[in-house]
Amino acid sequence: MRILGIETSCDDTGISVYDSIEGILFNKVFSQFNSYNSYGGIVPELASRKHLEVLSKLIQNSFEEFNLDKNSINAIAYTAGPGLTGSLLIGASLAVALAFSLNIPTISVNHMEGHLLTPMLEDKKPKFPFIGLLVSGGHTQLINARGIGEYELLGESLDDAAGEVFDKVAKLLGLKYPGGSNLSKLAESGVRKNFCFPKPMINQKNLNFSFSGLKTFVSNVIKKEKFDFQTRANIAKEFEHVIVEILVEKSKRALEKLNYTTLVVSGGVSINKVLRKKLNNMMNIRKGKVFYSRPELCSDNGVMIAYVGMLRFRKFKSFDLRILVHPRWSI
Ligand code: KG4
Ligand code: ZN
Repeated sequence: MRILGIETSCDDTGISVYDSIEGILFNKVFSQFNSYNSYGGIVPELASRKHLEVLSKLIQNSFEEFNLDKNSINAIAYTAGPGLTGSLLIGASLAVALAFSLNIPTISVNHMEGHLLTPMLEDKKPKFPFIGLLVSGGHTQLINARGIGEYELLGESLDDAAGEVFDKVAKLLGLKYPGGSNLSKLAESGVRKNFCFPKPMINQKNLNFSFSGLKTFVSNVIKKEKFDFQTRANIAKEFEHVIVEILVEKSKRALEKLNYTTLVVSGGVSINKVLRKKLNNMMNIRKGKVFYSRPELCSDNGVMIAYVGMLRFRKFKSFDLRILVHPRWSI
């Protein structure tokens, strides 16, 4: 089976063709982040216009570049939510129109399920059941994943997502959008000695997170301190340390609660090296296994949508030709 995956939930236009035998035939991502430097964050209206400008050309050019015939596609999977309404509608409309013209089905995919199951594309694959730690720019969630389509939300951020706070603190530190990776790079030059930041909700037994108080705390520190390179690097280091500690501690509690030995970490923040190192340590101590995606599949892409589309099509045989979007769709 061969599936075209289309991802337009936020500011990345991602497309991919996944073949059940040959694997990923191509993975193309057009990233808009350079468009938002002067705004310091995504502008939803501009994001949807850019998807409209880029998406059909990206599909046409990729099929030509990889010498693929559109008629070899068996179905089209697209992100139906959660995400920005305008951006989702561009991907959904194009997916449905193209599927209609090729007389093939469409499959609407939840973006978070896409992230959650992408580590299954690696040679070292997780097996159900597992705890999923989803850490992206829009979500921080702990999921009990029992099987394809069988998910229970164990906890989530009650305010900002982990990636969102990385981006906001990065902006306060004078770094370019998207800030997560730039902040992490700056933190490599930092030392942990002068600062001590709070770890909100760390002592609460539940599996929820809260990051906005940490962001306000760090913002007040930045206002008071010198803005030289070393001070900024030290702040970045302490911030990264605190956020990683919280994610590791709550993941550990989720594993303990369900007595699971497998953790699967996905979403853009899962690229973070300090997070991976600390999670690896924690899982070694617990004699469990932890799984990630290769870095280019951690952030938004069309592969995850094509792959989950295929899994769902096989399991549920469900497809549709209605244009469906759910901007606030829970996994
Ligand atoms: O999953 P993703 O590509 O998009 C969403 O679905 O939100 O995640 C993007 C987020 C951004 O907030 C970005 O700053 C963060 O992932 N990110 C990182 C790193 N690389 C990307 N956060 C921390 N450390 C990184 N190395
Ligand atoms: Zn995402």
